[in-house]
Amino acid sequence: MKIIGTGAAHPTCSVTNEMLEKFLDTSDEWITERTGIKERCVISSEKLEDMAVAAANKALEDAGMTAADIDYIICSNVVNEYVTPALSCIIQGKIGATCPTVDINAACAGFIFAMDIAEDKLQCKKAKNILIVCAEEPSRMVSWQNRSTCVLFGDGAGAAVVTAGDELKAIRLTTSSLTDVLYYQRKLEPTPYISKDENFEPLVMRGREVFKHAVTSSCRDIRKLLNETGIDANDIKYYVLHQANRRIIDSIRNFLGVEEEKVPHNVERYGNISSAALPALLDELNRGGKLHKGDKLVFSAFGAGFTTGACIIEWAK
Ligand code: UT7
Repeated sequence: MKIIGTGAAHPTCSVTNEMLEKFLDTSDEWITERTGIKERCVISSEKLEDMAVAAANKALEDAGMTAADIDYIICSNVVNEYVTPALSCIIQGKIGATCPTVDINAACAGFIFAMDIAEDKLQCKKAKNILIVCAEEPSRMVSWQNRSTCVLFGDGAGAAVVTAGDELKAIRLTTSSLTDVLYYQRKLEPTPYISKDENFEPLVMRGREVFKHAVTSSCRDIRKLLNETGIDANDIKYYVLHQANRRIIDSIRNFLGVEEEKVPHNVERYGNISSAALPALLDELNRGGKLHKGDKLVFSAFGAGFTTGACIIEWAK
């Protein structure tokens, strides 16, 4: 597999820490110190599907392709306005593709899980060109009265077009059922027969536990991939890490002993946009002219589940 196009789209409404201070018992100082986040873009008038489509179209254009060239679409999404149809079905129609599509939910690690499925599809020649779209609106899962969670998230979409190649050097996925540190239950319609207790609440997160799992698992995954491939850590151009918290990013970097300039970040501008974070950051690097053919990149992400995904790719463009 190789990545041949990237795209991203963010909502227009940017919410700064100062804006949050107006209705929450919080401060720019606390948020900046504990998370590195200064602002986040959140959905207001847009629909998530429109951002997904914008990111997809940019990725197609970057790949020099049209929707007709795509023969499979994978959409990574945790929540959107529709339970059904899947977001990928909506994206397919709006970009004018006709291929099969599927939605996956591997939380913030969704981009890597989607790449893994894409790699399999390409390997067994069931598809030639695959569009991956990660579209997320975590701002709609949190209570905006809860300062511990709502300050952390933003919304957005990131996309990538992948095709056959041997630039994916290694990939590693893990799931360890740890469902009580980070969860959000959707309220379902009542029926005359429901007799069990149901207690729906906005997103619940035990931040410190998630923090520790995130750092430990990301370091473990990256070390395993470097060992497995025999690639020297110094030969990695960029470590593209999940953008949840600047302190998590810095901790992973310190444990791995990696220089600061090798670990790009944009969490300060967008907050945590779940699985869209990796492709959106990759798109920033790509469009910023930071990537060159042959550059080795590490991706690593973690999310609710607890899921983790990491891979090493060589930049192909
Ligand atoms: O994609 C995966 C999703 N999630 C993550 O990656 C999140 C991982 N966790 C984290 O990023 C951090 O744990 C947080 C940013 C969520 C919290 O940082 P922390 O340093 O672990 O703080 P804490 O939870 O231990 O809270 C410290 C204090 C608490 O007050 P008390 O109990 O010590 O009096 C909180 O109530 O900070 C308080 N607090 C706040 N204060 C001002 C929590 N949120 C805020 C806030 N403003 N927004």
